[in-house]
Amino acid sequence: MAGGWDRERLVALDKAHLLHPHVKLADHEATGGAVIVEADGAVLRDADGKEYIDGLAGLWLANAGYSREEIARAAYEQMKTLSYATLFWGWSNPPAIELAARVAELTPAGLNHVYFTSGGSEANETSLKLARLYHYARGKPEKTAFIAFRRAYHGLTYGAMSATGLENLWQGYGELLPGFGRIDPPYGYRCAHGKDRCDASCADALEAEILRIGPEKVAAFIAEPVMGVGGVIVPPPGYYERVRAICDKYDVLWIADEVICGFGRLGTWFGVQHWNAVADLMSVAKGITSGYAPLGASILHDRVYEGLKAGGVTLTHGLTYSGHPVACAVGLKNLEIMEREGLVERSARLGRYLLEKLRTLDHPNIGEVRGVGLMAAVELVADRATRALPEPVTIGFDVQNRARAAGVIVRGLVPGNIVAMSPPLVVTEAQIHRMVEVVGDAVAAAFKAAEGA
Ligand SMILES: Cc1ncc(COP(=O)(O)O)c(C=O)c1O
Repeated sequence: MAGGWDRERLVALDKAHLLHPHVKLADHEATGGAVIVEADGAVLRDADGKEYIDGLAGLWLANAGYSREEIARAAYEQMKTLSYATLFWGWSNPPAIELAARVAELTPAGLNHVYFTSGGSEANETSLKLARLYHYARGKPEKTAFIAFRRAYHGLTYGAMSATGLENLWQGYGELLPGFGRIDPPYGYRCAHGKDRCDASCADALEAEILRIGPEKVAAFIAEPVMGVGGVIVPPPGYYERVRAICDKYDVLWIADEVICGFGRLGTWFGVQHWNAVADLMSVAKGITSGYAPLGASILHDRVYEGLKAGGVTLTHGLTYSGHPVACAVGLKNLEIMEREGLVERSARLGRYLLEKLRTLDHPNIGEVRGVGLMAAVELVADRATRALPEPVTIGFDVQNRARAAGVIVRGLVPGNIVAMSPPLVVTEAQIHRMVEVVGDAVAAAFKAAEGA
């Protein structure tokens, strides 16, 4: 027992009853996992008392840091006052109203209408469905197809999974939903169009795909402003301006999946603010509550809302927990703290520091360091000149495991040669310094072990 926690009992019950995503069932039964019992700031503690700097902010979300009394109090007060209320049939509640208004204030101009969900997949389901409904309401019911990036991650419910472009996540679930076209993401380090110097012309692939499907059939293009799970892929300047123009030309809606990027991760309130273009719909989640309560939203631009309204639409898309008063009260408090403590500016400042530090790691197998705000990655290669994939390509998972043993959480991304970081926005310079040191050592040790294998 450490800190009063009976680790052995917890692990036994966990193995017997709790299902975990993204780990082989048999492996988990054999080894079990660390049981995290408490956290604060950017540090997690497990049942053995071991501490970790959480270089991933949970799943890219603990923006305001862990276990704040103030947010706990907001949840408590709300639960005591009104623990649940529905938004169906026009009923409403103060936290949902106030949070929708606050979100509308923070989002780029025109994004003013908020549909709350319980997370990111549901936010994307909602954005996809409302994009179709918009065209239907305007007398274009045949506009139902979507276009997404290869490697994109939009969640794993059926619609979101069908938009997701990571093939390993499709296996075993039969047919995806029909009607999803795919284009290559603007992955400058491995340009699908063979360019040495990025000129953002890869955005034209979107136009080609719209024309291939037929503009009269395409409802929307969905994309993460900076791709997270797919490799921390940062589009070049000008990219989304071009996307905007192409979408306008063919009456195609642009859905920005801001589930990771939104609420400060990239050093701006929203990821798209790194480009001079405004999306038609934005999906958000994660950072809206910093993970203190499950909450997401699909945010509609005025023109989408007006189109739906003019078409006489009733939103026959209802979710029991939409506008949950406790989740919304938590979201309000979280945003208040983020603003009061200047966490968005801090993300921009410490993000520069993180990239600077990562770039001092002079290891021949680090091909590229990239990122924006407090979202960064190192891409591992066999050789810097050729950019060939390392052997084995899964070496990033070894880096992840070695870092974890040293008390730092980072994440290897499929296929395994990219190591991602996205710490809480309250992370300190000293913690970043330690994180980078551990990642550097883990990369060196992993390649040394691979050579010896
Ligand atoms: C960009 C993006 N969209 C959607 C999702 C899905 O969110 P959730 O897991 O809350 O359903 C995620 C989750 O990581 C994500 O990174």
